Formats: sequence, C-alpha cells, structure tokens
Amino acid sequence: MNLRLITIDGPVAVGKSSVGLMLAERLSFQFFDTGVIYRTFTWKALNAGLSPLDTEALAKLAHDTAFQFVPGSGAHLVVLIDGEDTSRLIGAPEVERNVALIAKIPQVRERMVSEQRRVATELRLVMAGRDIGTVVLPWADLKVFLQASVTERAKRRYAELNERGVETSYETVLEELEQRDRNDTTRAVSPLKPADDAVVIDTDTLSLEEVVARILVLAHRQ
Ligand code: C5P
Repeated sequence: MNLRLITIDGPVAVGKSSVGLMLAERLSFQFFDTGVIYRTFTWKALNAGLSPLDTEALAKLAHDTAFQFVPGSGAHLVVLIDGEDTSRLIGAPEVERNVALIAKIPQVRERMVSEQRRVATELRLVMAGRDIGTVVLPWADLKVFLQASVTERAKRRYAELNERGVETSYETVLEELEQRDRNDTTRAVSPLKPADDAVVIDTDTLSLEEVVARILVLAHRQ
C-alpha cells in the first residue's frame, strides 16, 4: 500500500477521534487529532490571561510557542506545548467555550497549519480536524468527511460526558454543539466543509466498526 496520509474532517462530536484512532491502529499509522493543538494553545492563552478577542497578542503568542509531537499510547500522537503535555487540562469548560474564537484568528491558524504540515512530512498519518482535506493537506492520499445529524451527535456527546461524570443536560450539550457548528462553518478562514474530492460518510446509522471498515476498503484501493 502506497498510501501515507488520510484526512478525516467533520463537525464536533461526529466521532473523528474514535474513527481516526481505530483506523490508524489497523493500518499501523499514527493518529493526530488536530483539535488538540487548538485546545492546548487556547489553554496556554487563557492561562496567560489573554482575552480570546485580543488578536494581536494571540498572534504573537502563537509565534512564540514551541510545539512538539511525540508518540503516546497506541497510535496517539501527543502534542507538547513548550514541553508540557496538557492532555488532561484541555477538556476544561473555559477551553471548550473559547477555542472556536481563538481558532478563527488567521495568524493563529497559519502557525497551527504549518506545524500540522511539519508532522505530515515525517510520518504515515491519519489526521483529523475541520480543514485537513481542504487546507492543511489537500494532497493527502485519501480524504474522508464524516457527518451526522446534530441530535445524534448531541446524544453521543451527552452519553460520553455522563460516563465521565460531568454534570450537564442534553439540552445544554445540544445548544453548545449548535453554537460550535455555527462558529466552525461560518468563519472566514478555513470554514468547515468537505473537500471536493472527499468521500462523505453519514454515520447516523453506522457503528464505529462499520465506519472504519468502509474507510479501510477505500484505503486498500489506493
Ligand atoms: O475537534 P475539537 O472539538 O477538539 O476541536 C476544538 C476546536 O478547535 C473546534 O471547535 C474548532 O474551532 C477548532 N479546530 C479547527 N481546526 C481544526 C481542528 C479544530 O479550527 N483542524
């Protein structure tokens, strides 16, 4: 198989990480969830006391931040920010509320995109995000766009939060997803949309295994 790079894009809570991780493990590739790089940077910015609206300061901070990508458990690539692994901190509600605002700043995106491309030159990779097939790696060998209705995604996310013991209501989860969808699809730079040559898979009625199986068939055709 000559295939080296697979992109998986799609809206929040559509299952990109679960699908991407399982797929990477089956292919002995690494899995890079690019949401982590935006979240970890948001965590750093908030910790530094910056407002998510202070474009100039955020652009400078992005420029001055060092990222590294190291193998983690299974196929995971761990993002280190200034040498630190913040995986346990980036699910915090403040990060969740502010990440889409910070991710829409063009200078921040530019820095993140160049870091994502750097990783992609070195490894066989499944990379998941919003703009990977359209902007970050338009030359990827296989591009997948996952979609599911917002109610199905809210159901899945609510169940996952419940399992982790996070107290919230289904209605709150649904509202937050709708808000994030609006931010991600309407932003001026790199809005969420399938690449022209992406294979679109609707996951509403498919299990994780079934989605991965479909992508593996496409991968083996390459
Ligand atoms: O995928 P996840 O929900 O962790 O991503 C968090 C946020 O980071 C998204 O809502 C989006 O605003 C931003 N993001 C992005 N481009 C990517 C990945 C994530 O703008 N490639």
